Amino acid sequence: MKTIRIEAFVAHVGQPVRVNGWIHNRRSSGKLQFAIVRDGSGYAQAVVSKKAIAPEAWDALEAAGQESSLELEGTVRADARAPGGYEIDVSGVRVLQAVHDFPITPKEHGTAFLMEHRHLWLRSTRQHAIARVRHTVAKATRDYLDGQGFILADTPIFTPAACEGTTTLFGVPYFDEGTAYLTQSGQLYNEATAAAHGKVYCFGPTFRAEKSKTRRHLTEFWMVEPEMAFARLDDAIALAEGLVCYVVEQTLATRKAELLVLERDTSKLESVKPPFPRLHYRDAMKLLHEKGSETPLGSDFGGTDETLIAGAHDRPVVVHRFPSAIKAFYMAPDTDEPEYSLSADVLAPEGYGEIVGGGERLADHDLLLARIREHGLPEESFRWYLDLRRFGSFPHAGFGMGIERVVTWICGIDHLRETIAFPRMLYRIYP
Ligand code: 4AD
Ligand code: MG
Repeated sequence: MKTIRIEAFVAHVGQPVRVNGWIHNRRSSGKLQFAIVRDGSGYAQAVVSKKAIAPEAWDALEAAGQESSLELEGTVRADARAPGGYEIDVSGVRVLQAVHDFPITPKEHGTAFLMEHRHLWLRSTRQHAIARVRHTVAKATRDYLDGQGFILADTPIFTPAACEGTTTLFGVPYFDEGTAYLTQSGQLYNEATAAAHGKVYCFGPTFRAEKSKTRRHLTEFWMVEPEMAFARLDDAIALAEGLVCYVVEQTLATRKAELLVLERDTSKLESVKPPFPRLHYRDAMKLLHEKGSETPLGSDFGGTDETLIAGAHDRPVVVHRFPSAIKAFYMAPDTDEPEYSLSADVLAPEGYGEIVGGGERLADHDLLLARIREHGLPEESFRWYLDLRRFGSFPHAGFGMGIERVVTWICGIDHLRETIAFPRMLYRIYP
Protein backbone atom coordinates (compact mmCIF):
# COMPACT_ATOMS: atom_id res chain seq x y z
CA MET A 1 0.00 0.00 0.00
CA LYS A 2 1.32 3.43 -0.93
CA THR A 3 1.70 6.22 1.61
CA ILE A 4 0.49 9.42 -0.01
CA ARG A 5 -0.30 13.00 0.93
CA ILE A 6 -3.86 14.27 0.90
CA GLU A 7 -3.12 16.61 -2.00
CA ALA A 8 -2.54 13.46 -4.10
CA PHE A 9 -5.99 12.00 -3.33
CA VAL A 10 -7.24 13.38 -6.63
CA ALA A 11 -5.13 10.78 -8.46
CA HIS A 12 -6.00 7.87 -6.13
CA VAL A 13 -9.80 7.76 -6.10
CA GLY A 14 -10.99 4.21 -5.48
CA GLN A 15 -7.56 3.03 -4.40
CA PRO A 16 -6.32 1.83 -1.02
CA VAL A 17 -3.77 4.22 0.48
CA ARG A 18 -1.99 5.04 3.71
CA VAL A 19 -1.98 8.60 5.12
CA ASN A 20 -0.15 10.19 8.05
CA GLY A 21 -1.55 13.24 9.73
CA TRP A 22 -3.22 14.91 12.69
CA ILE A 23 -6.81 15.08 13.86
CA HIS A 24 -8.17 18.50 13.09
CA ASN A 25 -11.54 17.69 14.53
CA ARG A 26 -13.53 14.54 15.27
CA ARG A 27 -17.07 13.52 16.06
CA SER A 28 -18.68 10.24 16.84
CA SER A 29 -22.16 8.86 16.32
CA GLY A 30 -22.15 5.48 18.02
CA LYS A 31 -21.13 3.18 15.20
CA LEU A 32 -19.37 5.78 13.05
CA GLN A 33 -16.57 8.24 13.69
CA PHE A 34 -15.83 11.16 11.40
CA ALA A 35 -12.43 12.76 11.69
CA ILE A 36 -11.17 15.68 9.67
CA VAL A 37 -7.54 14.81 9.17
CA ARG A 38 -4.92 17.26 8.04
CA ASP A 39 -1.47 16.32 6.82
CA GLY A 40 -0.11 19.72 5.85
CA SER A 41 -0.98 19.28 2.19
CA GLY A 42 -4.73 19.36 2.76
CA TYR A 43 -7.75 18.20 4.70
CA ALA A 44 -9.79 15.05 4.22
CA GLN A 45 -12.65 13.46 6.08
CA ALA A 46 -11.89 10.01 7.48
CA VAL A 47 -15.01 7.89 7.84
CA VAL A 48 -14.53 5.08 10.32
CA SER A 49 -17.11 2.37 10.80
CA LYS A 50 -16.92 0.35 14.03
CA LYS A 51 -17.32 -2.87 12.03
CA ALA A 52 -14.43 -2.06 9.72
CA ILE A 53 -11.58 -1.81 12.24
CA ALA A 54 -10.21 -3.65 15.26
CA PRO A 55 -11.93 -2.80 18.59
CA GLU A 56 -8.67 -1.50 20.16
CA ALA A 57 -8.14 0.80 17.18
CA TRP A 58 -11.72 2.05 17.47
CA ASP A 59 -11.26 2.81 21.17
CA ALA A 60 -7.89 4.47 20.62
CA LEU A 61 -9.38 6.75 18.00
CA GLU A 62 -12.37 7.52 20.18
CA ALA A 63 -9.97 8.66 22.93
CA ALA A 64 -7.87 10.82 20.61
CA GLY A 65 -8.46 14.57 20.77
CA GLN A 66 -7.59 17.45 18.47
CA GLU A 67 -3.99 17.27 17.11
CA SER A 68 -3.50 13.60 17.93
CA SER A 69 -1.11 12.16 15.37
CA LEU A 70 -2.12 9.06 13.46
CA GLU A 71 -1.65 6.75 10.54
CA LEU A 72 -4.69 5.75 8.52
CA GLU A 73 -5.33 3.12 5.90
CA GLY A 74 -8.34 3.16 3.67
CA THR A 75 -9.88 3.79 0.29
CA VAL A 76 -10.11 7.25 -1.24
CA ARG A 77 -13.57 8.42 -2.25
CA ALA A 78 -14.47 11.69 -3.98
CA ASP A 79 -17.26 13.55 -2.22
CA ALA A 80 -18.02 17.11 -3.16
CA ARG A 81 -19.68 17.72 0.23
CA ALA A 82 -16.62 16.66 2.25
CA PRO A 83 -14.15 19.29 3.42
CA GLY A 84 -11.33 19.15 0.90
CA GLY A 85 -13.51 17.24 -1.58
CA TYR A 86 -12.40 13.71 -0.57
CA GLU A 87 -13.16 11.12 2.03
CA ILE A 88 -11.23 8.09 3.08
CA ASP A 89 -13.13 4.94 4.06
CA VAL A 90 -10.92 3.76 6.84
CA SER A 91 -9.87 0.13 7.15
CA GLY A 92 -7.14 0.61 9.74
CA VAL A 93 -6.05 3.27 12.24
CA ARG A 94 -2.97 3.62 14.38
CA VAL A 95 -2.95 6.50 16.85
CA LEU A 96 0.69 7.54 17.17
CA GLN A 97 0.08 9.95 20.03
CA ALA A 98 -3.26 10.69 21.64
CA VAL A 99 -3.63 14.34 22.66
CA HIS A 100 -6.26 15.55 25.10
CA ASP A 101 -5.36 19.12 25.87
CA PHE A 102 -4.29 20.98 22.73
CA PRO A 103 -4.23 24.60 23.87
CA ILE A 104 -5.76 26.13 20.74
CA THR A 105 -9.37 25.02 20.45
CA PRO A 106 -11.93 26.07 17.85
CA LYS A 107 -13.21 28.74 20.29
CA GLU A 108 -11.90 32.33 20.17
CA HIS A 109 -8.50 33.07 21.69
CA GLY A 110 -6.88 36.45 22.33
CA THR A 111 -3.94 37.57 20.19
CA ALA A 112 -1.49 37.53 23.11
CA PHE A 113 -2.37 33.89 23.84
CA LEU A 114 -2.05 32.90 20.20
CA MET A 115 1.29 34.69 19.81
CA GLU A 116 2.59 32.89 22.89
CA HIS A 117 1.57 29.61 21.21
CA ARG A 118 2.69 30.60 17.74
CA HIS A 119 4.50 27.26 17.28
CA LEU A 120 1.11 25.51 17.57
CA TRP A 121 -1.02 28.27 16.07
CA LEU A 122 0.79 27.68 12.76
CA ARG A 123 -1.32 24.53 12.34
CA SER A 124 -4.63 26.40 12.16
CA THR A 125 -6.48 26.61 8.86
CA ARG A 126 -5.99 30.36 8.62
CA GLN A 127 -2.26 30.33 9.40
CA HIS A 128 -1.80 27.42 7.01
CA ALA A 129 -3.46 29.46 4.25
CA ILE A 130 -1.36 32.57 4.91
CA ALA A 131 1.90 30.58 4.92
CA ARG A 132 1.02 29.07 1.55
CA VAL A 133 0.24 32.46 0.06
CA ARG A 134 3.62 33.60 1.36
CA HIS A 135 5.29 30.68 -0.36
CA THR A 136 3.64 31.63 -3.64
CA VAL A 137 4.61 35.29 -3.27
CA ALA A 138 8.24 34.28 -2.75
CA LYS A 139 8.22 31.80 -5.61
CA ALA A 140 6.48 34.17 -8.04
CA THR A 141 8.97 36.87 -7.10
CA ARG A 142 11.92 34.66 -7.93
CA ASP A 143 10.32 33.29 -11.08
CA TYR A 144 9.60 36.79 -12.35
CA LEU A 145 13.08 38.14 -11.74
CA ASP A 146 14.76 34.99 -13.05
CA GLY A 147 12.63 35.32 -16.18
CA GLN A 148 13.86 38.87 -16.66
CA GLY A 149 17.51 37.78 -16.64
CA PHE A 150 18.34 38.51 -13.00
CA ILE A 151 20.48 36.23 -10.89
CA LEU A 152 20.18 35.68 -7.16
CA ALA A 153 23.32 37.06 -5.51
CA ASP A 154 23.06 36.76 -1.73
CA THR A 155 24.34 39.62 0.40
CA PRO A 156 25.72 39.51 3.96
CA ILE A 157 23.72 39.82 7.16
CA PHE A 158 26.64 41.04 9.31
CA THR A 159 27.63 44.45 7.98
CA PRO A 160 30.05 47.15 9.09
CA ALA A 161 27.69 50.12 8.71
CA ALA A 162 24.18 51.48 8.16
CA CYS A 163 22.32 51.49 4.86
CA GLU A 164 18.97 52.97 5.92
CA GLY A 165 19.86 55.43 8.68
CA THR A 166 21.69 54.90 11.94
CA THR A 167 18.65 54.97 14.24
CA THR A 168 17.39 51.48 13.42
CA LEU A 169 20.61 49.48 13.67
CA PHE A 170 21.01 46.30 15.68
CA GLY A 171 24.60 46.02 16.88
CA VAL A 172 26.28 42.68 17.52
CA PRO A 173 29.69 42.22 19.16
CA TYR A 174 32.04 40.99 16.44
CA PHE A 175 35.33 39.60 17.79
CA ASP A 176 38.16 42.14 17.57
CA GLU A 177 36.44 44.13 14.81
CA GLY A 178 34.17 45.92 17.25
CA THR A 179 30.46 46.14 16.50
CA ALA A 180 28.85 44.57 13.45
CA TYR A 181 25.30 45.51 12.45
CA LEU A 182 22.53 43.24 11.25
CA THR A 183 21.76 44.31 7.71
CA GLN A 184 18.94 46.80 7.08
CA SER A 185 19.10 46.14 3.33
CA GLY A 186 21.35 44.29 0.89
CA GLN A 187 21.24 47.19 -1.54
CA LEU A 188 24.77 48.52 -1.17
CA TYR A 189 26.18 45.05 -1.84
CA ASN A 190 23.74 44.60 -4.72
CA GLU A 191 25.34 47.62 -6.34
CA ALA A 192 28.67 45.76 -6.31
CA THR A 193 27.23 42.50 -7.66
CA ALA A 194 25.23 44.47 -10.27
CA ALA A 195 28.55 45.71 -11.64
CA ALA A 196 29.56 42.07 -12.00
CA HIS A 197 26.31 40.69 -13.45
CA GLY A 198 24.19 43.61 -14.66
CA LYS A 199 20.95 42.36 -13.11
CA VAL A 200 20.95 40.89 -9.61
CA TYR A 201 18.72 40.47 -6.60
CA CYS A 202 19.12 39.47 -3.01
CA PHE A 203 16.30 37.89 -1.08
CA GLY A 204 16.74 37.42 2.61
CA PRO A 205 16.06 38.61 6.13
CA THR A 206 16.64 42.27 6.98
CA PHE A 207 16.63 43.91 10.37
CA ARG A 208 15.39 47.22 11.70
CA ALA A 209 15.47 48.21 15.33
CA GLU A 210 12.08 49.90 14.81
CA LYS A 211 10.69 51.10 18.12
CA SER A 212 7.35 51.60 16.38
CA LYS A 213 4.59 49.29 17.55
CA THR A 214 2.51 49.36 14.37
CA ARG A 215 0.82 46.62 12.40
CA ARG A 216 3.22 47.31 9.52
CA HIS A 217 6.57 46.92 11.26
CA LEU A 218 8.62 43.90 12.17
CA THR A 219 12.17 44.04 13.51
CA GLU A 220 13.10 41.12 11.23
CA PHE A 221 11.47 40.95 7.83
CA TRP A 222 12.20 39.50 4.42
CA MET A 223 12.93 41.74 1.49
CA VAL A 224 13.63 41.04 -2.16
CA GLU A 225 15.91 43.66 -3.68
CA PRO A 226 16.62 43.76 -7.42
CA GLU A 227 19.34 46.05 -8.73
CA MET A 228 20.03 46.89 -12.40
CA ALA A 229 23.09 48.36 -14.05
CA PHE A 230 22.61 51.06 -16.67
CA ALA A 231 19.10 51.68 -15.46
CA ARG A 232 17.22 54.76 -14.31
CA LEU A 233 14.42 55.57 -11.90
CA ASP A 234 11.75 54.83 -14.54
CA ASP A 235 13.23 51.38 -15.18
CA ALA A 236 13.05 50.57 -11.48
CA ILE A 237 9.42 51.73 -11.34
CA ALA A 238 8.52 49.64 -14.39
CA LEU A 239 10.19 46.57 -12.89
CA ALA A 240 8.36 47.03 -9.58
CA GLU A 241 5.07 47.39 -11.44
CA GLY A 242 5.67 44.20 -13.42
CA LEU A 243 6.77 42.29 -10.35
CA VAL A 244 3.81 43.31 -8.19
CA CYS A 245 1.34 42.46 -10.99
CA TYR A 246 2.93 39.06 -11.58
CA VAL A 247 2.94 38.17 -7.89
CA VAL A 248 -0.75 39.06 -7.53
CA GLU A 249 -1.67 37.23 -10.73
CA GLN A 250 0.16 34.04 -9.68
CA THR A 251 -1.41 34.10 -6.24
CA LEU A 252 -4.88 34.48 -7.73
CA ALA A 253 -4.15 31.65 -10.14
CA THR A 254 -2.73 29.14 -7.65
CA ARG A 255 -4.09 30.04 -4.20
CA LYS A 256 -7.86 30.25 -4.72
CA ALA A 257 -8.59 27.86 -1.85
CA GLU A 258 -6.35 29.77 0.56
CA LEU A 259 -7.84 33.15 -0.39
CA LEU A 260 -11.28 31.63 0.20
CA VAL A 261 -10.25 30.48 3.70
CA LEU A 262 -9.07 34.04 4.34
CA GLU A 263 -12.37 35.42 3.00
CA ARG A 264 -10.37 37.71 0.74
CA ASP A 265 -12.41 39.85 -1.65
CA THR A 266 -10.43 38.79 -4.73
CA SER A 267 -12.15 41.31 -7.02
CA LYS A 268 -9.91 43.89 -5.33
CA LEU A 269 -6.86 41.91 -6.48
CA GLU A 270 -8.17 41.32 -10.01
CA SER A 271 -7.81 45.05 -10.72
CA VAL A 272 -4.08 45.06 -9.97
CA LYS A 273 -2.98 45.64 -13.56
CA PRO A 274 -0.50 48.01 -15.19
CA PRO A 275 -0.15 50.91 -15.51
CA PHE A 276 -0.01 52.03 -11.88
CA PRO A 277 -0.70 55.77 -11.49
CA ARG A 278 2.52 57.74 -10.97
CA LEU A 279 2.52 60.84 -8.80
CA HIS A 280 5.29 63.33 -8.11
CA TYR A 281 5.75 63.78 -4.35
CA ARG A 282 4.61 67.40 -4.74
CA ASP A 283 1.36 66.36 -6.40
CA ALA A 284 0.80 63.68 -3.78
CA MET A 285 1.18 66.41 -1.14
CA LYS A 286 -1.27 68.64 -2.97
CA LEU A 287 -3.77 65.78 -3.00
CA LEU A 288 -3.20 65.17 0.72
CA HIS A 289 -3.77 68.80 1.60
CA GLU A 290 -6.99 68.81 -0.42
CA LYS A 291 -8.07 65.79 1.60
CA GLY A 292 -7.33 67.56 4.87
CA SER A 293 -3.96 66.10 5.84
CA GLU A 294 -1.78 68.42 7.90
CA THR A 295 1.52 66.77 6.96
CA PRO A 296 3.78 69.66 5.89
CA LEU A 297 5.38 69.78 2.44
CA GLY A 298 8.87 68.35 2.79
CA SER A 299 7.93 65.65 5.32
CA ASP A 300 7.50 61.95 4.86
CA PHE A 301 3.97 60.53 4.72
CA GLY A 302 2.28 59.10 7.74
CA GLY A 303 0.31 55.87 7.55
CA THR A 304 -2.96 57.79 7.13
CA ASP A 305 -1.44 59.82 4.30
CA GLU A 306 -0.49 56.64 2.43
CA THR A 307 -4.05 55.37 2.84
CA LEU A 308 -5.46 58.68 1.53
CA ILE A 309 -3.22 58.66 -1.56
CA ALA A 310 -3.83 55.00 -2.40
CA GLY A 311 -7.52 55.30 -1.54
CA ALA A 312 -8.16 57.29 -4.69
CA HIS A 313 -7.25 54.26 -6.88
CA ASP A 314 -8.14 50.60 -7.37
CA ARG A 315 -4.52 49.55 -7.89
CA PRO A 316 -1.14 50.37 -6.36
CA VAL A 317 0.11 53.94 -6.74
CA VAL A 318 3.71 55.05 -7.34
CA VAL A 319 4.89 58.20 -5.59
CA HIS A 320 8.24 59.44 -6.92
CA ARG A 321 10.78 62.15 -6.25
CA PHE A 322 10.61 62.51 -2.48
CA PRO A 323 12.63 65.40 -1.01
CA SER A 324 16.31 64.44 -0.81
CA ALA A 325 16.37 65.63 2.79
CA ILE A 326 14.10 62.81 3.99
CA LYS A 327 15.70 60.03 1.97
CA ALA A 328 18.79 57.85 2.38
CA PHE A 329 22.29 59.14 1.56
CA TYR A 330 22.63 57.05 -1.61
CA MET A 331 19.68 58.55 -3.52
CA ALA A 332 20.52 60.32 -6.79
CA PRO A 333 19.21 63.88 -6.96
CA ASP A 334 16.85 64.90 -9.76
CA THR A 335 19.12 66.96 -12.03
CA ASP A 336 16.35 69.50 -12.76
CA GLU A 337 15.49 69.98 -9.10
CA PRO A 338 18.26 68.63 -6.88
CA GLU A 339 16.21 69.15 -3.72
CA TYR A 340 14.12 66.20 -4.93
CA SER A 341 15.55 62.70 -5.20
CA LEU A 342 15.13 60.02 -7.85
CA SER A 343 13.24 57.83 -5.41
CA ALA A 344 9.95 55.99 -5.61
CA ASP A 345 7.58 54.14 -3.28
CA VAL A 346 4.77 51.85 -4.33
CA LEU A 347 1.73 52.18 -2.07
CA ALA A 348 -0.70 49.27 -1.94
CA PRO A 349 -4.44 49.86 -2.16
CA GLU A 350 -6.94 49.36 0.68
CA GLY A 351 -4.79 51.09 3.26
CA TYR A 352 -1.88 48.64 3.20
CA GLY A 353 0.73 51.35 2.72
CA GLU A 354 4.23 51.16 1.29
CA ILE A 355 5.17 47.79 -0.16
CA VAL A 356 8.12 48.87 -2.33
CA GLY A 357 10.80 51.53 -1.84
CA GLY A 358 13.69 52.28 -4.16
CA GLY A 359 15.13 54.52 -6.83
CA GLU A 360 18.18 55.57 -8.77
CA ARG A 361 21.53 55.59 -6.99
CA LEU A 362 24.02 58.39 -6.72
CA ALA A 363 26.74 57.47 -9.23
CA ASP A 364 29.05 60.46 -8.76
CA HIS A 365 31.99 59.79 -6.46
CA ASP A 366 32.48 63.25 -4.96
CA LEU A 367 28.81 63.91 -4.37
CA LEU A 368 28.41 60.53 -2.71
CA LEU A 369 31.39 61.18 -0.45
CA ALA A 370 29.89 64.54 0.52
CA ARG A 371 26.59 62.79 1.35
CA ILE A 372 28.30 60.17 3.49
CA ARG A 373 29.96 62.97 5.45
CA GLU A 374 26.72 65.01 5.73
CA HIS A 375 24.95 61.96 7.13
CA GLY A 376 27.73 61.45 9.67
CA LEU A 377 28.42 57.93 8.39
CA PRO A 378 31.78 56.24 9.05
CA GLU A 379 33.75 56.93 5.87
CA GLU A 380 36.12 54.04 6.46
CA SER A 381 33.28 51.49 6.23
CA PHE A 382 32.16 52.92 2.88
CA ARG A 383 35.54 52.82 1.15
CA TRP A 384 34.50 49.81 -0.90
CA TYR A 385 31.18 51.44 -1.79
CA LEU A 386 32.95 54.55 -3.05
CA ASP A 387 35.22 52.30 -5.12
CA LEU A 388 32.15 51.43 -7.21
CA ARG A 389 32.11 55.12 -8.23
CA ARG A 390 35.84 55.02 -8.97
CA PHE A 391 36.07 51.99 -11.21
CA GLY A 392 33.57 52.20 -14.02
CA SER A 393 30.78 54.16 -12.39
CA PHE A 394 27.41 53.53 -14.02
CA PRO A 395 23.82 54.71 -13.66
CA HIS A 396 21.90 52.10 -11.70
CA ALA A 397 18.61 51.66 -9.96
CA GLY A 398 16.65 49.15 -7.93
CA PHE A 399 14.24 48.71 -5.08
CA GLY A 400 13.24 46.61 -2.11
CA MET A 401 9.88 44.88 -1.78
CA GLY A 402 8.90 43.78 1.72
CA ILE A 403 7.50 40.26 1.56
CA GLU A 404 5.40 40.48 4.74
CA ARG A 405 3.83 43.76 3.58
CA VAL A 406 2.87 42.18 0.26
CA VAL A 407 1.50 39.01 1.87
CA THR A 408 -0.52 41.05 4.38
CA TRP A 409 -2.08 43.03 1.56
CA ILE A 410 -2.76 40.06 -0.72
CA CYS A 411 -4.28 38.07 2.17
CA GLY A 412 -6.28 41.13 3.22
CA ILE A 413 -5.39 40.68 6.89
CA ASP A 414 -4.85 43.27 9.61
CA HIS A 415 -1.35 42.72 10.90
CA LEU A 416 2.05 41.74 9.52
CA ARG A 417 2.68 39.37 12.42
CA GLU A 418 0.65 36.55 10.85
CA THR A 419 2.61 36.54 7.58
CA ILE A 420 5.87 35.13 8.93
CA ALA A 421 6.15 31.89 10.88
CA PHE A 422 7.92 33.41 13.87
CA PRO A 423 7.46 37.20 13.91
CA ARG A 424 10.01 39.39 15.63
CA MET A 425 8.65 42.63 17.06
CA LEU A 426 9.43 45.19 19.73
CA TYR A 427 7.93 43.05 22.50
CA ARG A 428 8.14 39.61 20.93
CA ILE A 429 11.08 37.26 20.58
CA TYR A 430 9.41 34.05 21.94
CA PRO A 431 8.83 31.41 20.59
O1 4AD B 1 11.95 51.58 1.88
P1 4AD B 1 13.02 50.71 2.45
O2 4AD B 1 13.59 51.08 3.75
O3 4AD B 1 14.13 50.61 1.33
C1 4AD B 1 15.34 50.02 1.41
O4 4AD B 1 15.74 49.36 2.33
C2 4AD B 1 16.14 50.12 0.15
N1 4AD B 1 17.57 50.00 0.47
C3 4AD B 1 15.69 49.05 -0.81
C4 4AD B 1 16.42 49.10 -2.11
O5 4AD B 1 16.31 50.08 -2.82
N2 4AD B 1 17.13 48.06 -2.46
O6 4AD B 1 12.45 49.23 2.58
C5 4AD B 1 11.92 48.57 1.46
C6 4AD B 1 10.65 47.84 1.79
C7 4AD B 1 9.50 48.74 2.23
O7 4AD B 1 8.84 49.27 1.11
C8 4AD B 1 8.63 47.77 2.99
O8 4AD B 1 7.87 46.98 2.10
C9 4AD B 1 9.65 46.87 3.66
O9 4AD B 1 10.84 46.97 2.90
N3 4AD B 1 9.91 47.27 5.04
C10 4AD B 1 9.45 46.63 6.14
N4 4AD B 1 8.67 45.55 6.27
C11 4AD B 1 8.38 45.13 7.51
N5 4AD B 1 8.82 45.72 8.63
C12 4AD B 1 9.62 46.80 8.56
N6 4AD B 1 10.09 47.36 9.68
C13 4AD B 1 9.95 47.32 7.26
N7 4AD B 1 10.72 48.35 6.82
C14 4AD B 1 10.67 48.30 5.48
MG1 MG C 1 10.79 53.18 2.37
